[in-house]
Parts: sequence; structure tokens; C-alpha cells
Amino acid sequence: MKGIVLLLSLLALLTTNSDARIKLLKHRIFVVIANDLSGGLDLTLHCKSRDDDLGEHLLHTNQTFEFNFRPYFWGTTLFYCSFQWKGGALIWFDIYKEMRELKSCTLCKWIIRENGPCRYDYITGSYSDCYPWNNSTILHEKKNALQN
Ligand SMILES: *[C@@H]1O[C@H](CO)[C@@H](O)[C@H](O)[C@H]1NC(C)=O
Ligand SMILES: *[C@@H]1O[C@H](CO)[C@@H](O)[C@H](O)[C@H]1NC(C)=O
Ligand SMILES: *[C@@H]1O[C@H](CO)[C@@H](O)[C@H](O)[C@H]1NC(C)=O
Repeated sequence: MKGIVLLLSLLALLTTNSDARIKLLKHRIFVVIANDLSGGLDLTLHCKSRDDDLGEHLLHTNQTFEFNFRPYFWGTTLFYCSFQWKGGALIWFDIYKEMRELKSCTLCKWIIRENGPCRYDYITGSYSDCYPWNNSTILHEKKNALQN
């Protein structure tokens, strides 16, 4: 009887929570970030998640920074990075946001340009998924997060 109840609860979990089913199949995610700034500008980046601090890295033109991780079971994985180059302010971008990336990539390739990061689109075969910098709201949240 106990066994049946357990089996039924497991079935219920697997069939009603499609999110949980997806997460069961999760594999390692690879992220590659390349400096595509114009004029040979160096790029300084610093990526973090709730559990990991990947440290500060300096990228010359076309150089890449790579990391990989296993996403959280419950789908809340977030990696965010600060970016800075000569003459610019410190700006932020959420480089891996589970809800956004889930269907797009397991090898997530980004290039960093002045007007925002662009992700490689496996359908168009180019870096066409471009996003704006999010400097304002997130800045305060991230500052707080960094202090914790
Ligand atoms: C960076 O890569 C681009 C595209 O492959 C190339 O045209 C350019 O010459 C490279 N720049 C440097 C400094 O290596
Ligand atoms: C900036 O971040 C905030 C908070 O996460 C979000 O609500 C907003 O949509 C973002 N704006 C842009 C332009 O990405
Ligand atoms: C965000 O930062 C970039 C680069 O410094 C800048 O060009 C852009 O105007 C800023 N956007 C906002 C909304 O502050």
C-alpha cells in the first residue's frame, strides 16, 4: 500500500509538473563569451551566480571566457556578469537566465558589443539574438547581491 501511494505521488509529480520533467533531463550548460568590441578595446568581465564567483577576467579583442555548470533542478539558475571597457561605466547583463536560454542553447555563445550582448542563434547561424544592456534597475539588486 505504501509503495502504491509512493508510486502514485511520483507519477503525479512527473505528469503534472512538466517543469520537473524537463529538469530531470538537464545536462551541463556551456557558456562562451567573446570580446567583439570595436577599436581593439579590452573588455573586463566578472560573472557570478548565487553560488559561484567566476572572478574578474580581461579579454583582448576576440578572446573568450568560458564556463560551464549544471543548472539547478528547480529551474532558477541565473548567472549575471558585469562588463566594463575603457571610457565606459560598469554595466550588467544576465548572461544565463534559465527561462530565456532553456529552449535556445546548451552551448550558449555570446559576443559582447558596445550596444549590447548578442547570442548565437542556431537557426539563423549568426549572432542575431541581441539584447540591450540592463544598467539601471538591476544595478542596485546586483550590488546588494555582491555584498551578501
Ligand atoms: C577578430 O575576429 C574578426 C572576425 O573573425 C576578424 O575579422 C578580426 O581581424 C579579429 N581581430 C583581431 C584583433 O584578432
Ligand atoms: C531590466 O531588469 C529588470 C529587473 O530584472 C526587468 O524587469 C527589466 O525588464 C529589464 N529591462 C530590460 C530592458 O532588459
Ligand atoms: C547602458 O549602458 C550603455 C553602455 O555604457 C549605454 O550606452 C546605454 O545608454 C545605457 N542605457 C541606459 C538605459 O542607461
